[in-house]
Order: sequence, then C-alpha cells, then structure tokens
Amino acid sequence: MENRPESHILVIFGASGDLAWRKLMPAIYDLYVQKMMPENVYILGVGRTGFEHDEYVNKIRTGVEKFAQIKEKNESFYNKIGYLSLDTSNVDAYQALKSRLEEIKETGVEDNIIFYLATPPDLFVTIPSALHIQGLAKESKYTGYRRIIIEKPFGTTLGSAIYLNTHLSKAFKEHQIYRIDHYLGKETVQNLMVTRFSNSIFEPLWNRNYISHVEISASESLGIGSRGGYYDHSGALRDMFQNHLLQLLTYVAMEPPTLLDAESIRTEGLKVIQALRPISESNFNNEVIRGQYTSSLIRGEKTNGYREEEGVPADSRTETFAAVKLTIDNWRWSGVPFYVRTGKRLPTRVSEVVINFKPTPHHLFHENESILNTNNQLIIRIQPDEGILLNFGMKLPGAGYRVKNVGMDFHYSDLSQVYLPSAYERLLLDCMLGDATLFARGDTVEAAWRFVQPILDRWTSDPTVPLYGYPAGTWGPIEAERMIEIPGMNWRFPCKNLSNSDEYCEL
Ligand code: BG6
Repeated sequence: MENRPESHILVIFGASGDLAWRKLMPAIYDLYVQKMMPENVYILGVGRTGFEHDEYVNKIRTGVEKFAQIKEKNESFYNKIGYLSLDTSNVDAYQALKSRLEEIKETGVEDNIIFYLATPPDLFVTIPSALHIQGLAKESKYTGYRRIIIEKPFGTTLGSAIYLNTHLSKAFKEHQIYRIDHYLGKETVQNLMVTRFSNSIFEPLWNRNYISHVEISASESLGIGSRGGYYDHSGALRDMFQNHLLQLLTYVAMEPPTLLDAESIRTEGLKVIQALRPISESNFNNEVIRGQYTSSLIRGEKTNGYREEEGVPADSRTETFAAVKLTIDNWRWSGVPFYVRTGKRLPTRVSEVVINFKPTPHHLFHENESILNTNNQLIIRIQPDEGILLNFGMKLPGAGYRVKNVGMDFHYSDLSQVYLPSAYERLLLDCMLGDATLFARGDTVEAAWRFVQPILDRWTSDPTVPLYGYPAGTWGPIEAERMIEIPGMNWRFPCKNLSNSDEYCEL
C-alpha cells in the first residue's frame, strides 16, 4: 500500500471546465475509492461560472460516472466537494477565496493547500500573483505546505516560457511548483527506468556500441475535432513534441541517476535536453519534416482535411505532423540518431519507443535477404496495450538456415490483478505526497524550448520550407520515411495506411 497523503485542501481553478470534469475529478474519485486520498480532504472548485453548490456537485457526478475507472459508487466523495464562483482575473476577488479556505480549515482540514491551475494559459501569471498578494502562496513554520500544479502549455515560445517561470518564481519556490506533463504519468514511461536500470541484460547494450538508432512515435488516429481554435496556434511541435516527446526522450536516453529522487532524476533528464545538437541550418529540410493532413477516404468514408476542420483557416500552414531527427552529443549516444515523430489522423493511436539494435557484424545467414528481416528491436509500448516486445531472429524449421523475426512480448494486461492508474491519478497522488519526480522542472522546460524555438523561427521566417500534405489515415508525408538514412530501415508501422483501403489496424 502506498503512503496516504496528509490532510489538505485541493483548490481547482478552471473547475467548470472540461479538464476538471473529464479528467481531474474522475481521477480524484478513483484515488478516493481506493483510500489513497486522506480522510480529511476538501476539494474546492473555483471558476467564473455561477454554479449553486448542488448544481456543481451534480455536474461533477456526471463526469465521475462517465470517466472514473472504478465504477463502484461512493456517495461520501461528494460531501468533500465545494464550489466558489470567482472572477479569477480580478486580484481583489481572491479575498473571498482566502475567507473560504479559512472556513474549510475550521472544519478540521489541515493547513496544507494545493492549487491546481486547470485554466487557459492566460491565467498562469494572474492566478499565482493573486495568490501571492493574498499571502496564500507562502510557506512558513506557521503554515502547512503550499503547492501549485500548472497545466500545459507551459509557454508557447522560449520567451513566454521564461516569462512564466520568472513570474511564477516571484510567488512560489521551485520545490512548490509542479508542471504537469501527463505523459510522465503513464505507467510505461516510468517502466522505462525500471527496464533500463534494474535489468542487467538491457543496460549494457543501451549505448552507441549496440544501438543503431531509436524511434519515438506518438501517433493519433483522431483529427483535431473541435479544438481548431487552440490547435491552429499550436501545431504538432508545440502540442506534443516540445513537451511530451522530449520528456519521454529523457527517460530513454538519460544516464543512471545516482539516487531515485526528484532532483537526481530530473537533473539527468535536463542533461539529455542540453546535449541535443541544434538542428542544422543547412540540412534543415532533411532533419525536420512537417505535414498537414488532407481530406481522404478512411474505410470508405470521406474524412475532412485539416483546413476543412472547424475553427481552422482555409489557408492554415499549421503542422499536424512533425518528424525530427535528433542527435545527442554525449559519450553514450554519439552517432546514434533518434527519430521522433507525432501526428494527427494517422492510421492508429499508438505511442512507442523502438530501440533498434545494430545488425550482427558478419551476416552468416544471408540467404533470402533474411538479414533485413531480423534486426533486433526492443519496443516499449506506452499506449495502448502497454507492454514490451523484443524482436529477434529464429531459424525456420527445415533444411537450410532461413531466419524469421519472432517476438517475445509482455502485456500489462496479462497482470490481471494489477490496476493501471490513469496518468492524472498518478500525478495528483504524487503531488499530494510531495514527489515532483514526474513533473517537469523549470530549467528542463526552458532547455526544451531552447531546442525547439529555432525550428519554429525557421518555419515562420523561411517560406521555402515545405509543408507536406498527407492523406488522413496514412503515416504522414513520404518525406518522413526518407529521413531514416540507414539502409534497409524505416519507421515501425504498427499497421498499414488506412486511406483508400478497408484495412483495419491491429497492434
Ligand atoms: C495533449 C495534446 O497534451 O496530449 C493533445 O494537447 C493530444 O493534442 C494529447 O491529443 C495526447 O495525449 P494521450 O494521453 O491521449 O496520448
């Protein structure tokens, strides 16, 4: 049984929004039912909408019933919830929050407070400074802890991320700040550390001597749906690459931390990002590929192109696909390219890390081109069907030496007794326990932006950089396949293109 957090008040700003309804409250409910929330906890939703208490609680109930993993009913949860309607952009209005927090403490809840900013990013400066002005951010020997969780996006440029960090640090110290990257809350991402650092068979091979290249893919089959207004100002590089995929990269590539604590692990992560070689200016168009999905037929049905989606301008040049070739300039990874790609409207939803090992030095079993089919791969599947797959060559029965690639796999779902917490469940619990390991540190976020910003700048300033179209339901622009220059190698495609075909994806 994990530790149970201390009694506290959890204040959720943006409490009437979709994130709180769909993800946060259901995750808190799951924790509550498993007795991982303290007995004496209070969850105070704060938002601009003028809900009555019962109206808010009923709204939350509908979200919990729909999205919580645990379907068992527990009415007492709803007694722990309250709502405060507040104009969050007005600093003076926070006096009401202060009074409400005092009232809650008088009911016996300890003086520990977590503020969760599930709001649009334009409030990421206003709310912390209002909390600071009201004296709600400061920890002292007379108070319990004060923590703040900030949702993404943490900045939209390097400059805005620095601005945000600067302002946040006026109100909260770094140890109080928890920047959410929900990818780090995924079980298989954490399992990367265990796979690497608790098995003597993998770590000795985890370097330039044995690995030819690494792929990291996060593909999504859905388009941008109703999020066109947000997405068109973001694009795949900001939305997925700068945060989730670079954070994931740190777990694949970091040196073993000396201790299993937040600072040791995050410091090793930072070193990976700092070692990324800036994208070459002269070879830019081969190292970074961007694409945008176009209208297509998927399983016989017409699918919108990105420019036909709601809220997207008809001449938009926002990328819905990005593939980047990364070079990590350090001892371990010298000469090992990391290919990272993400996109919307690809054939399936899958996030994977693929470690491609070098072929044997002498190709003994060369007949029937079997060597091309037997590159050893370790596939770490982040989602769905979380697990690990090892591909290697085996002899086909019969005369001669015909070699076939076979797989040895482990699926989390085989551990039938094991409950997989959602990313939000895991991250919320960690914050309540004061463990910041799976949250992005300010310096790492800035380092990631430092790497990404020149790519964005080049896209804005150089009209000759291509934006390739790719039919919805395919694996992105063909140019992304060409970026893997290793003979006989391509990205791993867990299923075929869906465009103009009736083929279904199976992992
Ligand atoms: C979010 C992005 O951060 O991550 C979305 O804004 C994306 O565009 C989502 O769809 C992917 O997360 P997951 O957990 O569904 O892979």
